[in-house]
Amino acid sequence: GLPERVTIYEVGPRDGLQNEKAVVPVAVKSEFVTRLADAGLRTIETTSFVHPKWVPQLADAEELLAELVRTPGLRYPVLVPNERGLERALANGITEIAIFGSATETFARRNLNRTVDESLAMFAPVVERARAEGLWVRAYVSMVCGDPWEGDVPIEQVVSVASRMMDMGCSQLSLGDTIGVGTPGQVTALIEALGDAGIGTDRLAVHFHDTYGQALANTLAALRAGVTVVDASAGGLGGCPFAESATGNLPTEDLVWMLNGLGVETGVDLGKLVATSRWMAGRLGRPSPSRVVQALSPG
Ligand code: HMG
Ligand code: MG
Repeated sequence: GLPERVTIYEVGPRDGLQNEKAVVPVAVKSEFVTRLADAGLRTIETTSFVHPKWVPQLADAEELLAELVRTPGLRYPVLVPNERGLERALANGITEIAIFGSATETFARRNLNRTVDESLAMFAPVVERARAEGLWVRAYVSMVCGDPWEGDVPIEQVVSVASRMMDMGCSQLSLGDTIGVGTPGQVTALIEALGDAGIGTDRLAVHFHDTYGQALANTLAALRAGVTVVDASAGGLGGCPFAESATGNLPTEDLVWMLNGLGVETGVDLGKLVATSRWMAGRLGRPSPSRVVQALSPG
């Protein structure tokens, strides 16, 4: 069966914009987040408190949060890699954070400048302090379906890193197919293996990139396996600057189109969302890669 309702975890302002070449002005980012909220998205990953030299596009996190008018009741999580990042998040009134680990050594090194063990040691005090401060903590694991340098990633490796992060006390685990190589059979097998390890679908989210056009098929497989939280990026923006083969995330519009057709509630107004992505495409100077945005745009 399928769930009655799916929670869309919007990552456009973070995963979408972290990879842009041109600097997007703070006012445009702020309007983007506000328009996404107005389109009905309840959880919007807004920015990252990472090293500004590593991700220059999100170096304006403080300015963005100062400018953004946050709607009470909505969630505005941010990425936090370490204690310095947590300090910055707390100083800006953040109540939801996401740490982000890697299933592979190569990506841990490239993305976090750490081995897998070192990166987990970096996260532990972050989660401990965040929980003591009453924050909600999500754990991402990247490269769950394959790695551009290491190739196939054994399921046990993903389960091991995921378990170590969840054991720290995180509330939600997001499975990242960072480079978009996964297929539905892999997704089903991974969710089953996580369930066997005690991480049930009530704590899972899926995070697909659409590099090989599999993101929607993978999402449907995850929903059939019991997952009810799906990450997506308005207009299909995005990618990871430390994994060159990664393209954008599953476009939120493509997800909403499929869920509308299936009669699954999302609370999202597709017309407003498409208008937002068209507006953002204008700011970025290129058309949205989302098939649904293209199909619903006047010729
Ligand atoms: P490092 O160079 O090892 O940092 O980077 P360090 O701990 O050695 O510190 C060096 C200096 O940086 C220190 O300053 C720190 O204070 C400062 P100094 O004492 O030398 O003057 N520093 C910071 N400044 C501001 N904010 C901070 C911060 N941390 C240290 N948070 C680090 C290690 C983790 C910081 C770096 O590797 C980093 O920022 N990485 C982030 C990479 C990133 O954001 N990647 C994209 C997101 S992941 C993704 O897209 C995948 C995902 O979408 C899921 C999927 O698709 O799979 C989530
Ligand atoms: Mg991603």
